[in-house]
Amino acid sequence: MTVHTDIRDGDARPLREVHEAPEILYVPRYTGLQRVNHWITAILFTLLTLSGLAMFTPYLFSLTGIFGGGQATRAIHPWFGVALAVSFALLFLRFWKLNIPNKDDVAWSMKIGDVVTNREDRLPELGKYNAGQKGVFWGQTALIGIMFVTGLVIWDQYFYQYTVIETKRWALLAHSLAAVVAIAIIVVHIYAGIWVRGTGRAMVRGTVTGGWAYRHHRKWFRQIAGGKRQRGSTDKRGH
Ligand code: HEM
Repeated sequence: MTVHTDIRDGDARPLREVHEAPEILYVPRYTGLQRVNHWITAILFTLLTLSGLAMFTPYLFSLTGIFGGGQATRAIHPWFGVALAVSFALLFLRFWKLNIPNKDDVAWSMKIGDVVTNREDRLPELGKYNAGQKGVFWGQTALIGIMFVTGLVIWDQYFYQYTVIETKRWALLAHSLAAVVAIAIIVVHIYAGIWVRGTGRAMVRGTVTGGWAYRHHRKWFRQIAGGKRQRGSTDKRGH
């Protein structure tokens, strides 16, 4: 609050002007633990992408330098994979209920033209996640599952004797294809987080503005504002 004094004709009269910064309402979207879990997953995914691509094509072999050479990259890559499987499993347990598809997702997907042209007024009201986010979630669930299982099959150091060479070849093909799709999905995931302004702070600060919540996830916003908890839904704090 600032107080101004207006002096007219030598007559000092206090003129109070109240300048209040417009109040921004922040809505909690993620707890600290959820964010730590997410960013550990993101770091492991990045390390897996770099070490995996280094072994995928000779053109990117120079990336092995980050991990201390070719043999070191080969040794550490599967361990990053095990860590990612654990980290993503925890993320999965936290979020799977909120990612169950519903009829709003069908309506939203049918209006994908309005989604990409930012005509949000024409879209149905949504819960915590839209169909695109749910697609990323289930896509990564399936792909990380495939990469983990096929990764064990081709992890010669520990599991060589358990499968025949032909099985290992198919596993390697599936492993590489799943990785290419998973990387493409994450590129879309990162792009969407940047494209929809105000989304990044959800995973950085743990909150979004009330305006963001009202605009993009109105049903979720109403639930929080109403303090209602529904099955598979968010609690009062938005978790
Ligand atoms: C590497 C950079 C990454 C960035 C910048 C990023 C950014 C974000 C942001 C901003 C959100 C919040 C979206 C919202 O609440 O509306 C989010 C949510 C989420 N992210 Fe990421 N992310 C990254 C990597 C990953 C990776 C590698 C995975 C998993 C393999 C992942 C899985 C998730 C999941 C499961 C959610 C919760 C949304 C849901 O359950 O559908 N993210 N991310």
